[in-house]
This record gives sequence, C-alpha cells and structure tokens, in this order.
Amino acid sequence: MFNTLKKSVAKFALKYVPKNAIIGIGSGSTINYFIKELSKISSSIRGVVPGSIRSEKKLRKHNIPIIDLNSLEHLDIYIDSADKVNTSMEMIKGAGGALTREKIISSVAKKFICIIDKSKYVRHFDCYSFPLEVIPMALRKISEEIIKLGGMPKYRENFITDNGHCIIDIHNLYIKNSIDLEKTLNNLPGIVSVGLFCIRKADLLLVSYADQIKEIY
Ligand code: 5RP
Repeated sequence: MFNTLKKSVAKFALKYVPKNAIIGIGSGSTINYFIKELSKISSSIRGVVPGSIRSEKKLRKHNIPIIDLNSLEHLDIYIDSADKVNTSMEMIKGAGGALTREKIISSVAKKFICIIDKSKYVRHFDCYSFPLEVIPMALRKISEEIIKLGGMPKYRENFITDNGHCIIDIHNLYIKNSIDLEKTLNNLPGIVSVGLFCIRKADLLLVSYADQIKEIY
C-alpha cells in the first residue's frame, strides 16, 4: 500500500519541476519512483544534483545529466523524502544513510519540497530514532555523549556512508526541542551531520493519501 502512495506522490511532484531547471534530489525508495517519473521529462530539464551515489547511478541509467553542486551559483528546488515529518515541517531523515549529501544540497536550495506517504506525517517526533553520520575515530566519544543526553546509541553494522564514515542511530531519546537538539549535536566534534532536518525544514510538503495528495505550506 505504501509503495502505491510513494509512487503517486512522486508522480505528483513532477508538476513542481520547472522547464529547463537544474534540481537537487535526495535518495531512497520514494525518490527512486521520482527518478522514474523524471526520466519521462528528462529532455526538458538541464540536470540533477544527486544526494547519493545510488541516486546518481539511477539518474545515469536514465541518461539524466548529473550536475556538480560546485558548478552552481544557486539551486532553486530540492526534492526529497523523509522518514518522519512533523506538523512544523521539520524532518527526520537518513534511514538510507545519505543524510550528509542531502543536508548539503538542501542547505543551498531556495525551496525544499518534501514528498511522503501518510504514514510518515506525525504530530510530534517524541522518541523516533534518527541517525548521525560519524567519523570512525569518534564512535566511542559520540556514543558516550548520546548516553549523557538520555538516548541509546546503536552502531549501524556493516554500513559505510558515501563519504566513508559510520552511522550511529539514536534510539529512545525524547525530542523535546528539535532545533536545540540539532544544534547541540552539530557542535560535537566527530559528528559529520545529524538526521534532524529542523533548522532548515521543508518549505512545501506533499503527503499522499489513498484518495488525494495534500499540499501543506
Ligand atoms: C535517505 C532518506 C530518505 O529520504 C528517507 O529514508 C525515506 O526513504 P524512503 O523513501 O525509502 O521511505 O532520508 O537518507
């Protein structure tokens, strides 16, 4: 059922892709559906900045030009999914481990369009788990810091990010003030990026339900 909803929101998002545009995209199963849709209009866009090596490979398979972010003065639109989105348009991302590149591209984009199925839209984050990309030599230190904050760190076994780092997932941590928590974690040496996307949140949220797609600003 959720795959059908992911497909329908991916298709709907096409209407936000301007002609002749260069857009940024993230990664994951929803974005894979979006790449398929994008391939149908690939001749009308100039290219895509991908948020992961997996997305890049998929884009290349569809002959969609890949653009280096460093070659751009600005990026108008970034389209990505998320693991959870709250009613303040803040996101938890990174289940697929591509959070760092996704965070870099979205920080440059003027507009972040987040596309999700209804199961991911929540009122509060409460204790939802979220990932940190961590430099390997800091794993122990960061785990200790997470415990001090009241969370339970779990090292993601057999997983190396596109940037050669590790992932620690934080479980059982009540997310009371998401922006403060993101800032606190951002300041710990050894953390490359935090799976809370709350400082730079979504500008437009597309949520798919069985009978409609809601556009939330
Ligand atoms: C990857 C992400 C994805 O956007 C998020 O995990 C959602 O994935 P899916 O579309 O497969 O449900 O943040 O780093």
